[in-house]
Amino acid sequence: MKGLILSGGAGTRLRPLTHTRAKQLVPIANKPVLFYGIEDMAAAGITDIAIVVGDTHQEIQDAVGDGSRFGVSVTYIRQDAPLGLAHCVLIARDFLGDDCFVVYLGDNMLEQGLGEFVEQFDKGRQPNPSLRDDSADGLCRAQILLTPVRNPSSFGVAEVGPDGDVVNLVEKPAEPPSNLALVGVYIFDSAIHEAVAAIEPSARGELEITDAIDWLIRNGHRVSHQMLDGWWIDTGKKDPLLECNRLVLDTVVRRVEGAVDDASKVEGRVVVAEGAKIVNSTVRGPAVIGADARIENAFIGPYTSIGADCVIADAELDHSVVMDGSHITGISRITDSLVGQQVRVSRSPERRQGVRLTLGDHSDLELG
Ligand code: DAU
Repeated sequence: MKGLILSGGAGTRLRPLTHTRAKQLVPIANKPVLFYGIEDMAAAGITDIAIVVGDTHQEIQDAVGDGSRFGVSVTYIRQDAPLGLAHCVLIARDFLGDDCFVVYLGDNMLEQGLGEFVEQFDKGRQPNPSLRDDSADGLCRAQILLTPVRNPSSFGVAEVGPDGDVVNLVEKPAEPPSNLALVGVYIFDSAIHEAVAAIEPSARGELEITDAIDWLIRNGHRVSHQMLDGWWIDTGKKDPLLECNRLVLDTVVRRVEGAVDDASKVEGRVVVAEGAKIVNSTVRGPAVIGADARIENAFIGPYTSIGADCVIADAELDHSVVMDGSHITGISRITDSLVGQQVRVSRSPERRQGVRLTLGDHSDLELG
């Protein structure tokens, strides 16, 4: 079994945070989203992995390297334009050969591991005599992961037949045939290569993997499904990202490697990474403080991630993500916020009225 992680495309929905950066590298509990996917694959025994990359290829390559630190081998496949998830499979043909493979969307995060999903697919590869007459050989050619959602029109949507096989799939339908959304993890065998070559681009101009899987069904192949266990988040949007951060922080194990002075309190499930300094401050978990960050005369409240090399001084923050290298000083309360890398937020020494701002395009600022 090989792995294909899709990390091309443009992160337009997280602008300006990912205007120029890969949305798959946005940190969750101070670890890039993409790393969770790679670790999941490694845990399921999938060690031969290709990552499809687009304009942000350099950044992703710098972060992931050759995969050895995850115990896997990583090959990069360049996609010149985001032409669709099925297009990614098309251009990965040489890497994939005739092997079965897992496709994982690089901006998705799942609570459940991949192990059981892969196991079920392997079981479905055993021919079953009671299967539909039109199935070419009874082998399961693809397996998808489904979960009920309130807004199916924003996802790929599946209909499941009485025997548990998938009978119909449609991408972001105006009138959804069910409330079962496709979660961003799939398994295929080599039959998918014929499907991705056969389909036409959708109305949004992309080769949809949903259409390719539907093509398999229309051509008499079996597609099975598993229902998602636990939470799943498409981190390409701001509020889900904060929510995901909260869910992952709930699982962190307390570890204090940095320095905490006597005047400070570090309460509950908190990670203070190496080189970080907590001075005259309170950090109330769940929270993570990145390497070499400095927290001084500050309160860091629950569900907050502070990236590496940040400085938080004379400030209060909770339920927020602050990315590497940012400085926040003299601000009484920041909540429910996402702060990018190398950002400066401070209070002016001059007591003048008005707020002075330098905000990038598509910024979102709410003043109290
Ligand atoms: O999140 C689940 C949904 O993901 C499914 O329900 C949909 O059926 C599926 O089409 C997909 O929809 P999105 O519109 O959310 O996909 P998005 O464009 O966000 O791309 C998902 C990942 O794949 C993201 O990490 C970028 C990468 N990608 C995307 C495209 C279009 C590529 O690597 N190349 C591409 O051409």
